Amino acid sequence: MCGIVGVIGKDNTTDILLKGLEKLEYRGYDSAGIYVNNQDGKDFLVKEVGKISELEKAVTSDVQGLVGIGHTRWATHGKPTIENAHPHFSDDNRFYLVHNGVLTNFEELKNKYLSDVHFNSQTDTEVAVQLVDHFAKQGMDGETAFRKALSLIEGSYAFAMVDKEQPDRIFVAKNKSPLLIGLGDGFNVICSDAMAMLEETHEYVEIHDGEVVILKKNSVEISKLDGTKVQRGSYTVNLDASDISKGTYAHYMLKEIDEQPNVMRKISQNYIKNDGTLNVEKDLLDEMNKADRLYIVAAGTSYHAGLVGRNIFEKICDVPVDVELGSEFGYHMPKLSKHPFFIFLSQSGETADSRQVLVKVNELNLPSLTITNVANSTLSREATYTMELLAGPEIAVASTKAYTAQIAVEAVLAKALGEVKGLQSAKDFDVKEQLALAANGIQSIVDAKDKIKKLADEFLTGQRDAFYIGRGIDYALSLEAALKLKEISYIHAEGFAAGELKHGTIALIEKGTPVFAYVNDGVGASHTRGNIQEVEARGANVLVIASKKYAESGDQIIIPEIDELISPIISVVPAQLIAYYASLARGNDVDKPRNLAKSVTVE
Ligand code: G6P
Repeated sequence: MCGIVGVIGKDNTTDILLKGLEKLEYRGYDSAGIYVNNQDGKDFLVKEVGKISELEKAVTSDVQGLVGIGHTRWATHGKPTIENAHPHFSDDNRFYLVHNGVLTNFEELKNKYLSDVHFNSQTDTEVAVQLVDHFAKQGMDGETAFRKALSLIEGSYAFAMVDKEQPDRIFVAKNKSPLLIGLGDGFNVICSDAMAMLEETHEYVEIHDGEVVILKKNSVEISKLDGTKVQRGSYTVNLDASDISKGTYAHYMLKEIDEQPNVMRKISQNYIKNDGTLNVEKDLLDEMNKADRLYIVAAGTSYHAGLVGRNIFEKICDVPVDVELGSEFGYHMPKLSKHPFFIFLSQSGETADSRQVLVKVNELNLPSLTITNVANSTLSREATYTMELLAGPEIAVASTKAYTAQIAVEAVLAKALGEVKGLQSAKDFDVKEQLALAANGIQSIVDAKDKIKKLADEFLTGQRDAFYIGRGIDYALSLEAALKLKEISYIHAEGFAAGELKHGTIALIEKGTPVFAYVNDGVGASHTRGNIQEVEARGANVLVIASKKYAESGDQIIIPEIDELISPIISVVPAQLIAYYASLARGNDVDKPRNLAKSVTVE
């Protein structure tokens, strides 16, 4: 969601900006733009609605310079139009600024300071750049005006700004929204995430909330808003540009589905030592052992992985677990238990909804763990402990390998915690064997892609609605399966507790309605079979996805053997593939579905 790039000190600025924006496409956007300045009085602003390819067409060969900023915009305030696309500029064309985040007091600032200024857009961002200009016109230099504006602005932001009168620097500031500085030899870059600039550098410096950076080609000056200097070392990002390429695949999503067996092996190798002992921080386990309740906080697919995790932790560690949506929990925090422990699940480690909960958890001095795919992400830095998903970059907006990796890491952690507690349930759960079964099981499903494609065509062609049903662990899974289908195929899909359907929603079942029924949950299996009968009797077209143990003749997809607790690791894969093929059949943009963003950095 909204991506920022910037570069100073290179002569192929335009190229770097456009390539960087392409790399950020996965985050989700609906317009894009660049501002380039040749430090010799000449500058260029190009903006387009739609894909980066449209922007590239609009960039003519004379758009060259030595400093530049670029942006992909995911509309919040104002429609996706050229006027609302970034960079925004001040009335007198002096300042150019890109922004990721949402300014909460922009109306107030506009009324108070800018009532006589002409605005070109409906965005909150334009207020920021006009405000800087307002203070500059009062005689402040660019930096002082920038700091003054920042001191008044409320909300979330990552800003990068160029002052035409000082084109030897980029002004940068951050609060809540992600932004990194990348270090080069004789040049420096900025980016919302390192993936955008891996071709330029692997060396990055974090910027913390409330900091301002003056970026020149040979220097990076970080300070707090009050001017106090900040010294911070850099870190190396161990990713290759090839990690984020599609290779021979038509879509990232299919590549990422196929990578899941390897992700399981990687998690196993990393967290389970050769002698079978677990590689999980002792302090983390001791802290968790003191907790009387675990609170898992997440959003979207990660929330669904949390629902699966609840079952795993409760069964293996004998500890009660609440699973909470960050967007709700932060604002309606229930009465907490005496000794809570928080687990933040987040593929990106940047989701603003989850982060605002972590900020409150830290204010309360409560211990926390972030399980994330992105080392050094905001949630990872700010939690007490971190565990990595090791899934490799996930680019497709619809999350696949991060979901299965989250369940696998939860399983490792549950086993480790259960062992610390000395529980038999933990001893009986052979996590190494289970992850091996998971890898093989996923492989057998992805090897049967052609069959799943046929089923997707048979069940979903021409359909507007679909249902996933299941009980217990299969209910949690149904929510994720339905989300996959709706987010990329745009078919209206619901995940339902199989037993709950008859209490209202069964009214929607008519002749030919596709119902995907999961039967992996031992306790619920026979009852779910009853619910299948109920919907079939009303004309539903039922596809059963059942574990080997509970399968009956006629079931279309059989899930290989695995412990029920982590069975969604395998049984989600048919749903991922069904969603993929349904999306393809409808001619949708599989990797970048409409209206969605990969990393949602606004609340
Ligand atoms: C966005 C993405 C979802 C993701 C959710 C949470 O909505 O489109 O795929 O599940 O954010 O993201 P996180 O990075 O915190 O797991």
